[in-house]
Amino acid sequence: MRFQAASHATLAIALFCLALTALVKGLVEDGSKGRRFICHYTSWSRLRQGDKAYTIEDIPGNLCSHVVYNFVAVHEKTFEVTAMQPEFDIDENGFGRFAALKDKFPNLKLLAAIGGWGHGGEKFSNMTETRDRRKRFVASVVKFLHKYGFDGLEVVWLYPGNFERGGSVNDKDNFYYLVRETQQAFTDAGRGWEVSVQVPADKSRLEVGYQIDALCEAADFIHVIGYDLRGWWNNFADVHSPLADRPHDEGNFAGLNVQNGVNLWLHGGCPASKIVLGVPMFGRTYLLDTPEGNSVGSPTIGAGSAGEFTNEPGYLGYCEICTILPSMTLQWDEKAQCPYAFNKVEWIGYEDDRSLKAKIDWAVQNRLAGIYAFSLDLDDYRGNCGKPYPLTRVIQKYYEETKKDTLITWSSG
Ligand SMILES: *[C@@H]1O[C@H](CO)[C@@H](O)[C@H](O)[C@H]1NC(C)=O
Repeated sequence: MRFQAASHATLAIALFCLALTALVKGLVEDGSKGRRFICHYTSWSRLRQGDKAYTIEDIPGNLCSHVVYNFVAVHEKTFEVTAMQPEFDIDENGFGRFAALKDKFPNLKLLAAIGGWGHGGEKFSNMTETRDRRKRFVASVVKFLHKYGFDGLEVVWLYPGNFERGGSVNDKDNFYYLVRETQQAFTDAGRGWEVSVQVPADKSRLEVGYQIDALCEAADFIHVIGYDLRGWWNNFADVHSPLADRPHDEGNFAGLNVQNGVNLWLHGGCPASKIVLGVPMFGRTYLLDTPEGNSVGSPTIGAGSAGEFTNEPGYLGYCEICTILPSMTLQWDEKAQCPYAFNKVEWIGYEDDRSLKAKIDWAVQNRLAGIYAFSLDLDDYRGNCGKPYPLTRVIQKYYEETKKDTLITWSSG
């Protein structure tokens, strides 16, 4: 009797533990699914001079859940996926060295981004035009992922339906077919691969190129570009990743902000659990019309000077910005929740730990799937201003801390 009672109790405890383990496992898996911090690697940053050259071996794989390789391309004749910089990707074993990050960081997921600004939209438009071409493309992607050991594809078509970038009126439907067919092929492969799409935050672009709810259903994740919403081309000084509208946001600029961009997807029928918010690790720079007119919205006459790392007018990485901030006047745009800085006629709208925290808070409150940051080589990776990767570490750490606000934090042991 005693023995039987004891064994019943043991059984009850064992069952209880099993149930608890399942519950905890569910929470942890849900948590990890809802907690992605996607970092971006750019192959061209290797071309910087001397010790500024950013290598695959520099990637801090301990800080990110995923790293994306920028970029691969669509071959304009075969419509297959192809290397964009074969002299590096293949000859210098770029793909292989990237895949080897998993030896060092076993939990890290690796994605390949296809497209980008320089790639343009026309090759996507041509490739997606017929089912036969899409099939060839998708088959080549499956081969590519097998061969190099990546875990998925991020489609960076900038932008479907945009005529100035080689688009056509059929892009909107064809883009959806492409993503759906890719998703199907990945499911068939049974390797847990994912297909995500990088998408804009502005309404006019969404209308011509994106079937919001169908695309979201077909894709595993939607990566909303929450930056580059303003720049020197607008002829007035502004931050480029504002969280919300300011009084001066009128006409085309009304609603062109991070919250509204994500909301267009949410209200369009895309669940928050599929949306990843993109944040910048760079600033947009300007030359002011007059040194006195330095508030947000002041007239500008062009792009700020190029930096020694990034070498592009109107654009500076945080690695460059952090070294010049001590000589500048620092300000905070309260509604945008973004910092800006000026010195005489030089003006920068950028991103810092405070603005990143504001964006993360909002992403957490809205239960988004995660954050992606562009890009590792724009953060202060050499530690010119302190400990290396200040912004990447802020995101990783603060995002981790906010877990307790939305999830019961069980330890999986
Ligand atoms: C797209 O297709 C058109 C028509 O066949 C062709 O003229 C054009 O060169 C193609 N574009 C690219 C980038 O391959």
